[in-house]
Amino acid sequence: MAIDKKYLLNSKQMAEFVARGFLRFDSLVPDEINQAVMRDIDNNAIQGAPAGTPIDECYHGTAIRDLLDLPEIQGLIYSLVGENPLFDHDAVHVREPNQGKAQGLHADSIIDVRTHFDIQIMYFPHDVPLEMGGTLLLPGSHFRKVNEMDIAFYQNMRGQIPMVCEAGSILVLHHGIWHCGRQNQTDRRRYMFKVRLNPAVRQLRLWNTDDLEDGYADHQEIFAGKAPEDDIQTILSKMEPWFEQASGRLEIVNRVKLWRFLTGDEDFDVHYWVTRLENMPA
Ligand SMILES: [Fe+2]
Repeated sequence: MAIDKKYLLNSKQMAEFVARGFLRFDSLVPDEINQAVMRDIDNNAIQGAPAGTPIDECYHGTAIRDLLDLPEIQGLIYSLVGENPLFDHDAVHVREPNQGKAQGLHADSIIDVRTHFDIQIMYFPHDVPLEMGGTLLLPGSHFRKVNEMDIAFYQNMRGQIPMVCEAGSILVLHHGIWHCGRQNQTDRRRYMFKVRLNPAVRQLRLWNTDDLEDGYADHQEIFAGKAPEDDIQTILSKMEPWFEQASGRLEIVNRVKLWRFLTGDEDFDVHYWVTRLENMPA
């Protein structure tokens, strides 16, 4: 499917994804699709496919297909993992009313530690108020590659985001992000649909890069602390509240490496952090 450029992510959104490991789109999906997906969940009618099936061949004639065919969803998929990525797995998460416990903090399957990344799309078909739980995620955790529930004893990390949202909201996550399902303390069922996609093409400048060069403030501005808030180096150097100051530097290095991978620009740096490591006088 050809995608209109206006639906692709821009460079600042991509930098935000690289820095924080997720993007959020509130109330994106129209209500007919929200209602139809919830009916399909109740009827056990959401059927994935064998792992490795091109996503364009999945979910024919269903509300999930309508969801994936929305131009905004096509645009974000294309920008992050390219054309026709592969279905990895999906999951319908239903939380019954008044559940007594939450899920432990974890990362989903990180058995592939290359720079290439999968995305996980999480879709919230109804309003999720705070007391209903929703997914909780820890921004900037995607480079801390951990094994599943090994981190489950961590609770209430500074900067964590409980997904409180309106119907039809979407989260798109780097597969390394730490997250968990929170407790549902309402008397209503909670629904969330997740699908994981593997790229089938090299993840190189797949988004709308028209704003890429403009996105870089000049070095003097940055040195003087006068770079605009949305400068790409500024986005990539923003600390998360849970970073310890020195470990924040490590995250900047990780972000620069991923930005270089995505842009193909091997000289790109943020405040000299990686160039310093590459200084190898003979
Ligand atoms: Fe998970």
